Parts: sequence; C-alpha cells; structure tokens
Amino acid sequence: MLTWMGVWAFMCGIMGYIGDRQAQSVLLSGLNKLEYRGYDSAGVAIAGDAELQVEKSVGRLAVLADHLAMSPIVGKVGIGHTRWATHGRPSDENAHPHTACDREFAVVHNGIIENYLQLKEHLLSRGHRFTSETDTEVVAHLLEEYFTGDLFSTVLRVIKEIRGAYALAVVAEKEPEKIVAVRKHSPLVVGFGDGEQFLASDIPALLDYTREVHILAEGEIAVLTKDGIACYDLAGEPMTVEPFFVTWDAQAAEKGGYAHYMLKEIYEQPKAVRDTLSGRLTEEGRGVVLPELAWTVEEIKKIDRIHIVACGTSYHAGLVGKAAIEQLARIPVDVEVASEYRYRDPILSADTLILVISQSGETADTLAALRNAKACGNRVLAITNVVGSSVAREADDVMITWAGPEISVASTKAYTTQLIALYLLAIYLGQSLQVIDAVFISELVHEMQTLPQKLDDVLETAPQIEKIAQAFSTWDDAFFLGRGIDYFVALEGALKYKEISYIHAEAYPAGELKHGTLALIVEQVPVIALVTQDVLYEKSLSNIKEVKARDAYVLGIAWAGDDEIAKSVDRVLYVPRTMSFFAPVMLIAPLQLLAYYASVARGNDVDKPRNLAKSVTVE
Ligand code: AGP
Repeated sequence: MLTWMGVWAFMCGIMGYIGDRQAQSVLLSGLNKLEYRGYDSAGVAIAGDAELQVEKSVGRLAVLADHLAMSPIVGKVGIGHTRWATHGRPSDENAHPHTACDREFAVVHNGIIENYLQLKEHLLSRGHRFTSETDTEVVAHLLEEYFTGDLFSTVLRVIKEIRGAYALAVVAEKEPEKIVAVRKHSPLVVGFGDGEQFLASDIPALLDYTREVHILAEGEIAVLTKDGIACYDLAGEPMTVEPFFVTWDAQAAEKGGYAHYMLKEIYEQPKAVRDTLSGRLTEEGRGVVLPELAWTVEEIKKIDRIHIVACGTSYHAGLVGKAAIEQLARIPVDVEVASEYRYRDPILSADTLILVISQSGETADTLAALRNAKACGNRVLAITNVVGSSVAREADDVMITWAGPEISVASTKAYTTQLIALYLLAIYLGQSLQVIDAVFISELVHEMQTLPQKLDDVLETAPQIEKIAQAFSTWDDAFFLGRGIDYFVALEGALKYKEISYIHAEAYPAGELKHGTLALIVEQVPVIALVTQDVLYEKSLSNIKEVKARDAYVLGIAWAGDDEIAKSVDRVLYVPRTMSFFAPVMLIAPLQLLAYYASVARGNDVDKPRNLAKSVTVE
C-alpha cells in the first residue's frame, strides 16, 4: 500500500480536464472532492468551440454549481478552483480562475507569489488593467504579456519571473486543446484516462475517473492533451512520467493517506511554518517585514500595553506571545481568556493595543472582546487563519497564519503558525523600537528559518511516542509540568490530551505542585515534564525529583544532548535544540502526537471529539 507522506499546506483546490466529456461536470465533481481544502469561493474556465468562458462566485461550491446549472458552459477542456484566500478577501473578483485584459488566458493557482507586488507594478506600467486584489492575477497578465503563440513556451517564460510557492494550471483561448500545469512547493497530480486526461491538487478529485496517477515533482511541468500527458523540467527538457495505481478509497485519499485529518495537519506543520514566514523576512534574511502592518515607529512607540485576548489553544499561543513580546520589545503584555475579558470592563488607555488570536476568526467570545475594544476606540490587531472571517474583517489590522484549512477539531498547525506570527510581531516591534540590535535580530531570523526542518526531525520520533501513548492511555489521569514558557506549552499539551483522549489531564507550573496537586501524584501516574528553559533547569529537575519520590512515571521532553535529565526520569523524548523562546515550536509536536495516539488507543473519534465543535460561534 503506498503511504503518501507528502507534507503539503492546503490552501486551495485545483481541477483540470481534457477529453470527450463536457468539462463542466468533471470540474464540479472534482472540486467537490477538494472543497475541504478551501471553500470561500470557486470558479471554472472552459475552452469551448468559440471563446474561453469563465464563471466564478464567492461562497461555497454549491453557489457556482447553481449558476452553471442555470447557464451551462459547453466545452471539453477546462480548469476549476476552490479557494482558500491568502491575498485578497473572498469575493467574486478575487475568485479564481483569473484572466488578463483580453481574457484569452485563464489561470488557477494554489500557493503564494511572493513578488507579486513588484510584478503588478511593472504590468500596470505596461498598461495592464487589474480587476482583483490577488497575487494570482499577475500570472494571467504575464501570460498575455509574453504570449509567443505557444502556451507551453510562454508558461516556461512566465515561471522564470515569479517567486514563491505555486501550483498553476493554465488554458488559452488560442490553444483550446491543451492544459499546461506547473508545480512548485504546492501539490499537483495528473490522472491518465483513455482519450481523456485529468489534473488536480489532490488524489481524491481523480478517483471517480482514474486510479492511474502521477504526482508532479518539484519544478515539474505537465502538458495535458486529449491523447496524453507530457512532463518537462523548468528548462523545458522532457521528464519521465512514473504513474502509480492508487489503492486508497476516496475518504482515505482526502486525508492524503493519513488515518485522520489531525495526523495530516500535525505533519503539515513544517510547511505551514515555512509558509507563515514566507514574505515576512527581509531579502537578506536579517530582519522582519510585516507588509500587512502599515505602522509608523511613532505609532509603535505610543503603544503602552498589549492585551492579548483569545480562547483555548489560541489563548495558549497568546501566553507564548506575551513572553516573546516582553522579552524582545519590552512592551508589557496581559493575556486573557476572551469569555472573561469581555465581561470584566478592562482598564484600557487610548494606547493599549488589543491583539485577538483566533484560528477560525469566528469564536463568539473573541469576537465580542474585539467589538468591545473597538467600541472603546482601541486599535485591534488580529492573528487569524481565515481570510475574510469576522475577526479578520472587523480588526483594524490582520496577520494571517498561512496554515491552510484546519479540519480536525483539535488545533495543531494553527497553534504552531500562531506562534510564528507572534514571534514575527515581537521581533518587528523590537526592531522598530530598537530594543534589540541587528546582530540579535539576524540570529533570531536565522533560527526561525531552521524550525521547519527541526520540526520534521521531531516528527520522525512518532513511532516512539505512539508506544508511550498506548501505555499512558490505560490511565485516567495525566499531569503536564513546565516552568516559564515550558508551562505555557504544558497547558496546550494538556488541552490536546484531554480533548481527544477524554483522559483527565492538568498542566501545572512545576513549582506549584507542592502547593496541593502533589497529593494526586501516586505510583506510576503519568507525568510529562517539559524541560528546556536553561535558566530554570535546576529548579525543574528538583520538581521532577519531587514526583519521582512519589513513584510517578515521568516522561521528560528535553533538548537533544541533555544527558542529565535521563538520570531523573523514566523515559526521555529529545527534541532538536533551538532558542529558548522558540522551544514551544519543538515541544508541541510530541505532545500533539501523544494526544493523538492516546485517542486512537482509546478508539475515539479523533477528528470529531465528543461535545466539541471546530469553531465555537456561540457563547
Ligand atoms: C483547540 O484544540 C480547541 N479546538 C479549541 O480550544 C480552540 O482553540 C478554541 O475554541 C479557539 O478557537 P479559535 O482559535 O478558532 O478562536
């Protein structure tokens, strides 16, 4: 059985068809299978016998399907798209496919074009007229600008100009018997039929038509015609195509071969971290740029306090954000649970910045806290994973975490990318206020860029964690301990653990145990001790000895190379060392996996745990 362990961030769904069927029905069917990848707008472009026709609309795929049912588009070649907005809010104009001035080309895109602003300026100076706010539209205009009469060579020329992560599919009115597609960092697969060929972001979209597929490699270009698919590298040299036969059922395929969305989303974290950093570091990698924040240094200097307001996992990310902002920018930060904050009439000065964090951007308590702050006239910055969400629309400024849709109720990649957004903000504030010097800033930026690879390394330890989780899952209690930032991660680890395994789990500041909770520590009860904060190391060890003295079973999670900890605990999981306040990015992955495997061991519905919803849109 082929296990597809590809790690791809999910932002949008692409579908393409060429053959003897009416393209419209194939595109809609494929997009329907891809809607879990993004669903704020959708569209199709079909090259009929006459001109290229485009139909697209904001909203779920059903809205587009209704439009097409009323006025179908005839044609046997087409591309389609279901969107997860990154640049440009969800709207009809921002929906894909995008065309250029004379609508002779249509393009759909999944990913981020980092240099789209420069390209757009150049194209505007050349007289091109844009109709959307998206990065993608520049591709359509570049095609128009460089069209040589041959679509394939034109695409080769265009992709030399764009930087970033992209999966692209293009059709041209003047070459209606062809689809050209390119893959760079975002997924694309092609499917082989008899006298018909298929293209999609993900395998599930193909399985109703074919199980013979080829996954495009990095930098691979596919040219689909009715009779076959030819693949090339970026230099235009032919590449060998290695089809494989997919044995998965459609449902398994939606999870990319993983057993659950949660596991897939845990493994997407390195890519999600990389995408969230993308476009927010200076060219030479020595500083942070936040194009989404047009703040002057004067405005930043006026901020006298920051209130971070969130719920659940997002609240736990906010605690780490407090540590980072106070250390790197020396601005005082309070972190509050939104359901409390919204009712307690907080003391605000005119210069208190409210920072709301919400994966869904729809959490009722967080949204209410945002509205209260706005009513008081305070500036609100939001960190959210959903472009166009209520929080994103109502905040004054927004930082998007580019994790892509998070399907599983238990939040994983959203948390990790919230941490990255908070680190970027902390560095941005610190460098604007000149609290941290250029050398330290470049060290921070360099270290952040190593985190995706280090996360990959941590995920390699999954088999060990699975065995530990199976043992722990026989217990009805678990305690998570940490000091300083490690305690904030312990809180998130305990929440993950309890919400999907249904095992009672508590997190404690390690120094707090002796003030009561130690009474619950009995022989072999699982205790997970996080030990990465060097300045608190000795204290953490002595707390571990307290619980060992009561015969608890202690799992330590510590920096690779720490031989001391092994003498004090029953088992150690090592994570690659990084700077102390980046520790949560390393520590959280083993805790997510521990929770996941404990839940599986107990036979729970991992992705849809009892009593919980993915977005708590009610009080
Ligand atoms: C996290 O695993 C939970 N699903 C939950 O605590 C969640 O983080 C909380 O409801 C906040 O959601 P939000 O980030 O979408 O606002």
